[in-house]
Amino acid sequence: MSGALTAGLAGLVTLPGLRFLAARRPRAAAGDDDAIRVADRDELKAERPLRVNVYGQRRDAWTRFDHARLGSAWLVRTPEGRVRAFSTVCPHLGCGVDWNEKTEKFHCPCHGSAFGLDGRCLRGPAPRGLDELDVQATGGEIRVRYLRFKTGTRTKEPIG
Ligand code: FES
Repeated sequence: MSGALTAGLAGLVTLPGLRFLAARRPRAAAGDDDAIRVADRDELKAERPLRVNVYGQRRDAWTRFDHARLGSAWLVRTPEGRVRAFSTVCPHLGCGVDWNEKTEKFHCPCHGSAFGLDGRCLRGPAPRGLDELDVQATGGEIRVRYLRFKTGTRTKEPIG
């Protein structure tokens, strides 16, 4: 009887503390679960990547931002007409990857990694190719489901 009472009291004391800790943990951006409109399909030309910013809802335990910049993506139209999206974050240490018109490759200015139009890593030290994002291209709109990934790992591991 006293054991059950002790366990019940311990639960009463512990539960609010656990709730408080859970609320303090930053939540993933609300936009992470939704595909966010980033461009019209006719803005994207073949063989010429288009950099877009991704805005969505981000919140922590106390504040909600309805139009926060979640990150950026490179949109690519393949020769077959398919749309692909890659995170602009270099998978080596997280610098922003740029498109170079002359070499027709993505380059990272920090340590020289290079990536093909298909996101493949052509030159390290990046341990993997660019992180591909889920993309929807229907009805003239391009939508991206933005996620962030761990850097410095050979495998693509979402954060958040
Ligand atoms: Fe891109 Fe190092 S951060 S190569």
